[in-house]
Amino acid sequence: MSGNVRDPKMMRITSKKMADVFIAEQIAEIKATVKDGRVLLALSGGVDSSVCAALLAKAIGEKLVCVHVNHGLLRKNESEEVIRVFKNELKANLIYVDAADEFLDALAGVEEPEQKRKIIGRLFIEVFKKEAQKLDGIDFLGQGTIYPDILESDGVKAHHNVGGLPEQLGFKLVEPIKLLYKDEVRQVGEALGLPHGMVYRQPFPGPGLGVRCIGAITRDRLEAVRESDAILREEFAASGLDQKVWQFFTVVPPIQSTGIKDGKRTYEWPVIIRAMNSVDAVTATIEEIPYALLGKIRDRILAEVKGVNRVLYDVTNKPVATIEWE
Ligand code: XMP
Repeated sequence: MSGNVRDPKMMRITSKKMADVFIAEQIAEIKATVKDGRVLLALSGGVDSSVCAALLAKAIGEKLVCVHVNHGLLRKNESEEVIRVFKNELKANLIYVDAADEFLDALAGVEEPEQKRKIIGRLFIEVFKKEAQKLDGIDFLGQGTIYPDILESDGVKAHHNVGGLPEQLGFKLVEPIKLLYKDEVRQVGEALGLPHGMVYRQPFPGPGLGVRCIGAITRDRLEAVRESDAILREEFAASGLDQKVWQFFTVVPPIQSTGIKDGKRTYEWPVIIRAMNSVDAVTATIEEIPYALLGKIRDRILAEVKGVNRVLYDVTNKPVATIEWE
């Protein structure tokens, strides 16, 4: 796909058949562009990078090198899923980098949200660059830029972790889905055989759980965020709410309150549940989670998550609050 402007005559991809035509065209175009070269791609596991990776893998196989950086702020089993789908199923060339310690050490003691985001973004580029420099013969950088990124932010993915990478690495860009809207990206992802859960997953911020472990991140509190998030996701999936609610997650602030467990006084964190409906993230309203389900989630969090003695439900819409807590 050349050029950055969508032809007004281009039909919206709304069916598997149309997605298959798009895939065939793109495979031919990617092959013609890349020839015998190699393409490097940062694979976060998000919808856009996953669809881009699957398309490139289908077009050029081994000549695609995916790098998945685990910054230690991913949700439970997220990296495992990326490895399962791309390495084991699609047989893609995938390098897994466990950089959790590096990120968590750099973030230790940092309270300010924008500072946390900057550190995560900067380190991500550093880690990715280090991997790129170990590889020979890379000519292209694959990117899952989509059309709203072009329309809204000059081709830089909104909030993207890897903004600035192409210029720094000096590679030519391959952006096979850059003229697609999100719903079309999902159609193409499903036609490529990616799991439904990966293609329809809820939005997840680049800095990951790092912005849900409020203030200075500690490993134990981050674990409380990760474990409570996993419980929330399991229960939403079991009740079918995951198909309806746009974005849902838990937040653990760095405050403690008194409680009582096994007859002993405790001093532990609260877990805050957030479940929002939105179309474009600009405004959002809360999902009214049924009380029985809230009670089940509360009981599981209190029984299964270490260091927690209270569960709260955030009933604030956007505006006045933002979706994330920081
Ligand atoms: P807010 O909290 O501003 O969030 O209402 C709107 C949407 O953006 C996501 N978000 C981010 N995404 N990096 C991202 O990639 C970020 O730093 C970031 N902060 C917020 C948020 O999850 C919601 O979908």
